[in-house]
Amino acid sequence: MKNKSVKAFAPASVANMSCGFDVMGMALDGVGDTVEVSMSEGDGIKIENKSDVSLPTDVEKNVITPAVRAFMQALGKKAMVEVTVLKKILPGSGIGSSAASSAAAVVALNALCDYPFSPEKLVEFAMEGECLISGTRHADNVAPAILGGVVFMRGYEPLDMVKLPVPEHFWCTVVHPHITVNTADARAVLPKEIPMRKAVTQWGNVGGLVAGFAMGDMDLIARSMVDVVVEPYRKGFIPEYDDLKEKLAMAGAMASNISGSGPSVFAVSQSKEKAHLLSEVMRRHFDALGIKNDVYVSHVMPHGARVVE
Ligand code: HSE
Repeated sequence: MKNKSVKAFAPASVANMSCGFDVMGMALDGVGDTVEVSMSEGDGIKIENKSDVSLPTDVEKNVITPAVRAFMQALGKKAMVEVTVLKKILPGSGIGSSAASSAAAVVALNALCDYPFSPEKLVEFAMEGECLISGTRHADNVAPAILGGVVFMRGYEPLDMVKLPVPEHFWCTVVHPHITVNTADARAVLPKEIPMRKAVTQWGNVGGLVAGFAMGDMDLIARSMVDVVVEPYRKGFIPEYDDLKEKLAMAGAMASNISGSGPSVFAVSQSKEKAHLLSEVMRRHFDALGIKNDVYVSHVMPHGARVVE
């Protein structure tokens, strides 16, 4: 016998937020994935893609599969779970495309099963999807996709997440140049160890970023958005990255950096007008290089994935 189905939307997200590699992430407003989930008697998972984006046809290669399996295993029941992907951010965008799919799937499944799990537990299930594509169980996309807002991962063992307040005038502009940067490759270029001097700079900035959000201090947020650990190794994936950063700073961006593992780039500003101006700078940069691109101007989405009609 087949149950009713549930649809859920999960937002795109910006992971790392500059200095917070694997420990900071924010949800974007308006852009994300929508999936529909149903359950019937049996055991297994089927995924159908009705979005306009091409996805792996092998379920074992889809991030939704490990997330759904982790959910069903914790539930302790067997069922045939059918997931239909209705709307999808382009994979490999750097704005949490894989996270949005697995987040939406577990949120829909939770609603279908009458809410057996907390949102925090759902983050743990969705992290299994991240592990499939990057080899690491990081939560800096799935946590904001499920919990919304800006989320700080204080620790992973056990998972300890803190949702931070966001200043009203915090605006984020994101450009997605249509080039491919594989998360696993972007992680492989990072050093295994970092010098103490860099570590001191980095944890000073992470502390400053968290304090800036907690105190609603935009200047402290902006001057803490400096990454000496990851950005230097990844910027080579993005054409003319230093030049883009300079143009954004000249146009009044308070900070800019790579979104997640790239190739998207984000910039922070304090007004909608400025955020739109920065989107023009981004668009012109990639247009001039002949690279197709999408730009988004967004507030931080206060609520995470949700059931939709
Ligand atoms: N923190 C992860 C990384 C995010 O930078 O590799 C991947 O989107």
